[in-house]
Amino acid sequence: MFSTAFLDLPPLQCASGTVTLPGSKSISNRVLLLSALCQGTTVVHDLLDSDDTRVMLVALRQLGCEVDVAGTTATVTGLGGRAWPAEAIEFFMGNAGTAMRPLTAALAVQGGDFTLKGVPRMHERPIGDLVDALRELGCNIDYLGNAGFPPLRVRQPELQLDKPIPVRGDVSSQFLTALLMALPLAATDRAITIEVIGELISKPYIAITLNLLARYGIAVERQGWERFVIPAGSRYQSPGTIHVEADASSASYFIALGAIAAGDPSKGGQGKGIRIQGVGADSIQGDIRFMDAAAQMGAKITSGPNWLEIQRGAWPLKGITLDCNHIPDAAMTLAVMALYADGPTTLCNIASWRVKETDRIVAMATESRKLGATVEEGPDWITIHPLPEGKWQRASIHTYDDHRVAMCFSLAVFNADQVPVRIEDPQCVAKTFPDYFEALFSVAHTATQNIPVICIDGPTASGKGTLASRVAAALGYHYLDSGALYRVTAHAALQASLTLEAADEAAIAELARSLPVHFEGEQVLLGNVDVTDAIRSEQGGMNASKVSVLPAVREALVELQHSFQRLPGLLADGRDMGTVIFPNAPLKVFLTASAAERAERRHKQLILKGFSANIDALRADLEARDARDMSRSVAPLQPAQDALQLDNSTLTIEASVEQVMVWWQSRQVFG
Ligand code: DC
Repeated sequence: MFSTAFLDLPPLQCASGTVTLPGSKSISNRVLLLSALCQGTTVVHDLLDSDDTRVMLVALRQLGCEVDVAGTTATVTGLGGRAWPAEAIEFFMGNAGTAMRPLTAALAVQGGDFTLKGVPRMHERPIGDLVDALRELGCNIDYLGNAGFPPLRVRQPELQLDKPIPVRGDVSSQFLTALLMALPLAATDRAITIEVIGELISKPYIAITLNLLARYGIAVERQGWERFVIPAGSRYQSPGTIHVEADASSASYFIALGAIAAGDPSKGGQGKGIRIQGVGADSIQGDIRFMDAAAQMGAKITSGPNWLEIQRGAWPLKGITLDCNHIPDAAMTLAVMALYADGPTTLCNIASWRVKETDRIVAMATESRKLGATVEEGPDWITIHPLPEGKWQRASIHTYDDHRVAMCFSLAVFNADQVPVRIEDPQCVAKTFPDYFEALFSVAHTATQNIPVICIDGPTASGKGTLASRVAAALGYHYLDSGALYRVTAHAALQASLTLEAADEAAIAELARSLPVHFEGEQVLLGNVDVTDAIRSEQGGMNASKVSVLPAVREALVELQHSFQRLPGLLADGRDMGTVIFPNAPLKVFLTASAAERAERRHKQLILKGFSANIDALRADLEARDARDMSRSVAPLQPAQDALQLDNSTLTIEASVEQVMVWWQSRQVFG
């Protein structure tokens, strides 16, 4: 997951390959709650691990449910037939509507002393229609802040079940879902009828609810989309085992990707396109119908059990006008596809966008305009005009703590003008798809020169490794510690009983060419062996220094070093990064510090590791090494001509990072 302040996406060109999608948020949270309400133990497979499901899991544990989570499998022992807690409980619902609404209803019907709160945005998301319906039923609910919005306090109800319960259906279908999941708790000896007031929106989400209720033993009788009867004698029963489908709304980004991006780069853009694993055309999720809308815009889609394959069809895409009431969440993805169309696209009947994580009509319009698009909006519609070549602008996309805004606008990087796109607060995707960007990068391709590299060279012990890895972390980029490659090469050579001299140059080079080296965080693995400590010693550095003067070895390591240049970008540290390995890098930093300062830092490092050391000896050693490094004929230590010098003798590491970030930002300039 990218937890950086922003993520810069370089322009992308093609995409091909397979993505396995995480479980659906809507299904995951419904299944968790139903598993908690029912009698018996349920093993839930392929559960989504996200902010919203974590909120639900915490709440269920607070209620006394036993929940074990191992990877994507959760084992839940339900409360059915057991006493609910009598003590006061405060629940924190974050910004998770799929947890807040149904939990409120279940708690209110069951009764107790419960408080439900959330993040500030949650306190702006309406819940009045649900509370009205629950009060009609005899539930005891108070608003602790503004009337109609969380936070709420729930007490013991006096249920009156003899007349139909009215609920508005035209603001959020989650209110009806909440009632449908809560009322079976009260329908033990009589049938309960719910009457929908107004035109029910997002019917497919109600279909998911009904489908899942049936799996848990509740056969709701549906009369049109106006009346729902929960039969007398209803009692939740565990299905034993249940699988969560992959999220059809998440699939929309990869369906769109297949429609927008040219195919396999090795086949000149033709070929297989994108395969999505985990959800197919027969999904119970309404958002799967996004595939029809995408097909209408030009995508070529085939499907089988639990999979979809998408290729680019019509190009440019075709502008469409569509009533999106049935696919409220996935429809946002159409708004971005519209930028690549041959004419305007109008999405109608999307009033619910205004009450989601943010006002999504405003968000999509505002951010599309930043890219250069012309957008018109109304109370419940939006029209997006395509962005022709020459009109795309670099934009820093504000994401409003809304995962879908972030994921949608990542698709803008396929623009004809090849401008990069900045996504602010990329970790907001964690709401439904924590590894979204990783999944995108795993199938997207671009010309190597589009993948930015920042080089940090400098003398030994200048702190370049620390600086480079910190900047990499701040940007969400990969990190190449090239010195480690020389250290590992020397280590492998000694293991193979080679000398580190010119006599064995060819043999060491051969070893280096297919070095099975892997980096896992701070750890360096050679094959399966952790060699971190072995190569990080002073002796390891000396050995590296010896093999690093052998030209054939340097040559042999070039390809391996180039292979680190992967999306979304690279921080490369080592002496010839800016001069030999990545000469076209857009930012090169030459980091220096006085010998005295470097000796002191190295001394501290060694003492920390439990080695004894003498500062004066270290300093003499460093100075000798500098002289050798600068004068040696093979890869001498020299700043690249276009490198910016940074003397960090008196700077904290934070200040050095800040300086490099300022230089980098000044070269990016996002509007
Ligand atoms: O940065 P370091 O201390 O891990 O480097 C170990 C040795 O490898 C050091 O003598 C410099 C050499 N080296 C090199 O020649 N070229 C690089 N790109 C990186 C390191």
